[in-house]
Amino acid sequence: MKFSHEWIEKNPWLLIGLVLLVISVGGLVEIVPLFFQKSTTEPVAGLKPYSALRLVGRDIYVREGCYNCHSQMIRPFRAETERYGHYSVAGEFVYDRPFQWGSKRTGPDLARVGGRYSDEWHRTHLDSPRDLVPESNMPNYPWLAKARLVPADVVPKMRALQRLSVPYSEQEIKDAPATLEGKTEQDALVAYLQGLGTQIKTRN
Ligand code: HEC
Repeated sequence: MKFSHEWIEKNPWLLIGLVLLVISVGGLVEIVPLFFQKSTTEPVAGLKPYSALRLVGRDIYVREGCYNCHSQMIRPFRAETERYGHYSVAGEFVYDRPFQWGSKRTGPDLARVGGRYSDEWHRTHLDSPRDLVPESNMPNYPWLAKARLVPADVVPKMRALQRLSVPYSEQEIKDAPATLEGKTEQDALVAYLQGLGTQIKTRN
């Protein structure tokens, strides 16, 4: 019988099978190499796992849903690199579980916000964004400055990440709770923000 496309299109199960085959081959060809490329699997030079305080801050970032308005992924376009700095590279995110790339930008991208403002600026901004940027529609987060951290809570978080291959040493985990003593949720979130994007050397 002569091969004919019509024949495939008239056999729904065959068509489904072939569509799945084509999509899987196409997908695998794109995805599988990423598991073996150094640039996507190894941390960029100088990248360290989150300190206990920043790790807790990161969880507060997730809890408060900051990702609903802020991405953490600078795309390699001129308009973005001029505004935010060097574009994001995969090796910056190897210790991020889950990553906070996002795509919604009601507010600016935060991938390299670390060091752009003072800690004081961030505190005022989190308490009441409109005190600094009158037209802002970012919500106030006044409770963060009042909520004390529970230092012991960080141990299971670090253990879980250790199991997922983040290289925390036993000593680091043991010492972690002491570094959170007396700190507030706002301290942790500010520490997290101040570290964002600062760990790799970039030209701008
Ligand atoms: C409803 C959307 C929204 C949410 C939710 C939100 N933001 Fe914002 N954010 C904005 C907007 C809009 C701006 C720009 C105006 C300003 O600076 O307030 C902004 C600005 C910022 C800036 C300054 C960035 C820069 O480069 O100038 C930081 C830092 C920030 N937000 C952190 C946070 C954190 C942390 C959270 C979660 C606790 C959060 N935002 C939640 C909308 C939001």
